[in-house]
This record gives sequence, structure tokens and C-alpha cells, in this order.
Amino acid sequence: MSWNALTGHREQQGDLRIAELMEDAGRAEAFSVRMDDMVLDYSKTLVDQGARDLLLELAGEAGVTARRDAMFSGQPINETEGRAVLHTALRDPGPSGARVDGQDVLPEVHATLDRMEEFANGLRTGKVRPVNGGRFTDVVNIGIGGSDLGPAMATLALAPWHDGPRLHYVSNVDGAHIHDTLDGLDPKTTLVIVASKTFTTIETMTNADTARRWLVNAIGDDEVGRHFAAVSSAVDKTAQWGIDTSRVFGFADWVGGRYSLWGPVGLGLMIAIGPKPFREMLAGGHDMDAHFRTAEGAENMPLMLALVGIWHRQVCGHPTRAVLPYDQRLSRLPAYLQQLEMESNGKSVAMDGSTLTVPSGPVVWGEPGTNGQHAFYQLIHQGTEVVPCEFLVAARGHEPDLAHQHALLVANCLAQSEALMKGRSLDEARAIMAEAGLTGDELERQARHRVFPGNRPSTTLVYPQLTPRMLGRIIALYEHRVFVEGVVLGINSFDQWGVELGKELAKALAPVLAGETDGADKDPSTRMLVDYVQTTRG
Ligand code: F6P
Repeated sequence: MSWNALTGHREQQGDLRIAELMEDAGRAEAFSVRMDDMVLDYSKTLVDQGARDLLLELAGEAGVTARRDAMFSGQPINETEGRAVLHTALRDPGPSGARVDGQDVLPEVHATLDRMEEFANGLRTGKVRPVNGGRFTDVVNIGIGGSDLGPAMATLALAPWHDGPRLHYVSNVDGAHIHDTLDGLDPKTTLVIVASKTFTTIETMTNADTARRWLVNAIGDDEVGRHFAAVSSAVDKTAQWGIDTSRVFGFADWVGGRYSLWGPVGLGLMIAIGPKPFREMLAGGHDMDAHFRTAEGAENMPLMLALVGIWHRQVCGHPTRAVLPYDQRLSRLPAYLQQLEMESNGKSVAMDGSTLTVPSGPVVWGEPGTNGQHAFYQLIHQGTEVVPCEFLVAARGHEPDLAHQHALLVANCLAQSEALMKGRSLDEARAIMAEAGLTGDELERQARHRVFPGNRPSTTLVYPQLTPRMLGRIIALYEHRVFVEGVVLGINSFDQWGVELGKELAKALAPVLAGETDGADKDPSTRMLVDYVQTTRG
């Protein structure tokens, strides 16, 4: 019922402009939401009082609150895999937490965290030593998807806290990735973490084999295990692969891969920045959990971020969403959010097996500002497609000597959202051209190129500084946003069947490419491409 009411409301708005809404001096306060010292401003969108009421009604109808409570309490809300969804437990300080099969999950979570801490400290202090003595100078995390994107993004984000061994991330099965990463490293002082929830992912296991050969060549076979650690839910498989159980950090199947940064998958990050900042990040995630569980309606930041997303995608029909961090250290956030949002909500079947009647989640993309301004903002400002933009910016940077650069960064961020909203009319463009000395047809022609339609929506998340705690809050904010969007769409945000078909076909194509089978069953396009590769490589 609310879907129809929402689309009806949007139609009624007609050619309403955000700038008109902004004539209300109280709009910025009324259409922003605060969580402690963070502010999410969604006043530069067409969400007005009526739209917000209807969106909140929609969330109520979808049962977001009940579903949220079911998630936090450990009920198996991942219904297609029969699993609980409890990544929030990884950042829960307790004392007691959710129960799965009647068991409190926290004792195990905290024990693993303590073991991670001991191992990380051992590496950082030199107590955990390489085979030939000395200290580990480098750590290579081999993983892909959720076993890579989260820790890789966070390691970059928290560079100012980086005082441990150097961290490197290898994900792609393309041998170039591991080759170029290991190229500059000394195997005698390098530790490899094999990170895989399933411990079967072809990319990760292939790269792990390559890393083992690289290590064995340098230090021999006998004690190569001392240069490895593993993080996985399949602890039996890590043992079969030859990693000593004392170096294996397990986690339960109720932690989804793309939600796993908070536990053992964050081991590399913990080694890089130290356990204390790592725990601060967990505390930040927990702050956001507490807020999400208690803040009412329009006061709830993840809820509002989700509802604004739904307004733009499902109600207004904008197919993509740009994430634009004005924070160079968040340069991997868009890639991280691509997995979080698109793997979670890129589905066209509802939980009950019926076909979705509204569009699935949007395409998520982006780059840090100001780089994006000199690349794709042209389309965002003047292209035919409206791209809702999500800006993120800190009030303070980490480089006091370069505060003037941070001021420029912030000015650019705020200017972009202003420009997107205001635009520039044909009359304004004509005046600029007249000022430049143009007249007649040429003035008219040139002016038209300089018109900005404006009325392009954006949200801005501002926070004091990118600290471990703030990063934890930001990540948890997006996790819960994805959760709410999934509940409203009625889909399961916690499975990812859509990645399976390609994996199966790749497995079947490998022997065809190797010339072991003929691939006669393949379509003409695939056969032609296989032929090309086979004949070209010789
Ligand atoms: O193929 C998708 C996926 O299953 C992701 O969901 C996951 O994060 C990634 O692969 C890696 O999986 P694993 O951690 O089991 O190696």
C-alpha cells in the first residue's frame, strides 16, 4: 500500500525543486539525523515531510523493527541458508549476547578475539618469529570478496594508526597480483594469512599454493607452517591444508563473508594497527548497533539512510548510487560497499520465492573526491541520468601541517552538493556569456552548454575525524542500511546464490582452455573466444 502511496506522492511533487524545499530555514535540521557527533544530512533530496512519513510507514509495514530484533537475538533470518546473522556479535562487548541453538555466542567470540590479540601482539613485538630468526616485516593477506575488501579498505582507512608490519592484500586469481605483491618481499620475513570463510574459494586456494611454493623455495618445507596463519569457518579444511591449529582463527557460519571484517578476517588489520585501535573499531560498530536498536523512526540514522536510498532507487527510479568519500583513506570504501550492497540486495526473488515487484538494490559505484570531480562528475552534473550522490567528509584531517589542504577538500565536497542542488539556469548562463563578450547566436549556443539542470539529490555524512571508532560506526551504519533496505524489499540480504553459476562454468571451462576437453557443448561465442586464446598463446 505504501509503495503506491509513495509513487503517487512523487508524481504529485511534479517538478518540485530541492531548492524550493530549502527555502524553509529549518529544513537542514529537520531533514538530517544525528548519532552522537555524526550528522547525516539528507535535506538536499526531494524527501519532504509527506515522503518521509510514507517511507517510515513502509518500514513499519515491512516489519523492520521485528526483523531487526530477530537478527540481534540470533534467529535464523538467513532463511535460504538456514543461518542466524550475527556479525553484530563480533563487536558486542557483552556480558551476554545472542543465543544460537541455545548457546550464548559471546564466550567463543571473545576467546577468539583474545587469541587474535595474542598472535597479533606476538608478531608486533617479535615474539612470533620467522623460521630463520629476526622479525616478520611483512604480512600478506590472501583472500577475496569479504575476506579481502573489508580488511583492505580498513587498513588503508586507518593508516595513521599503522605501526606494525607492512600489510599487503592479494585477491585476484590473476597471477599478476600475487607476483607483483611478492616481488618486493623477502620470504624469510613474510607471514601469509590465508583468509577464506569456506577455505574452498579457487582464487584464494590457488594464491595460497603459490605463496607456499614461494616460501618453501626460500625456507624449505619443514617449518613453512611458521610463516602461515589461517582464518576460516572450515577449521577442518585449514588443518588438511597444513596450517597448525594454534594459528587458525575460526568463526561461525552466522558471520556472512561481507560482514566478517570484525572478527578473524580482520586479523591482518589488527596486526597492522594493534589490538587496541582494532577494539576501538569494534566499539564504534557496537555504538551504531546500540543506536540502530534504540533510536526511534526519523532519529535512526541507518533507517533513514536506507529509506532515502529506497526513495531514490525504488520510488524515483534512479538505477545507480554514487558513494563519494572526500577522504582519500576511504578510497576503497566504494569497492567495499559494492560487495556489501550489491551482493546483499542485488536480487529479484523475494524471501517467499515470489518475483520482486519493485527494482532490486541499485548499482553502487564511486571514487574519492576530489579525484572524481575531474573524471565522472561531468555526467553527474549534466548527464541525462540522475545519480543520487552520497558524500562523506571529516571536519578534521590527520595532517595538522596540511590543514589548508583539508579545508580545500571540505570546500569542494560541500560545493558539489550545493552545485548539484542549485544548478545553473539558461538565463544565468546567458549572463555569463554576455559578460564574456558573446552576443547573438553564438551567445545562445555557448550558453546552452553551460546550463546545469540542478535538482540532483545528495546526502552528506559529516563526522569529526576518521578514527578507528568512527570507521566502525560508518561501516556498521552501512551494514544496517543494507539490512533495512533488504527487509523493505522483502529479500534475503544474506545469501549470494547469484555468484554460483559463473563459478561453476569457470570450473568447467578450465579443462577446455587447457585442451583436455573439446568444449563442443559451448556456445559459438564462447568457442570462438576459447579458440582465440588457445591459438594466440600457442
Ligand atoms: O563468491 C562470493 C563469495 O562467496 C563472497 O560472498 C565471499 O565474501 C567471497 O566469495 C569469498 O569467500 P571465502 O571467504 O569463503 O573465500
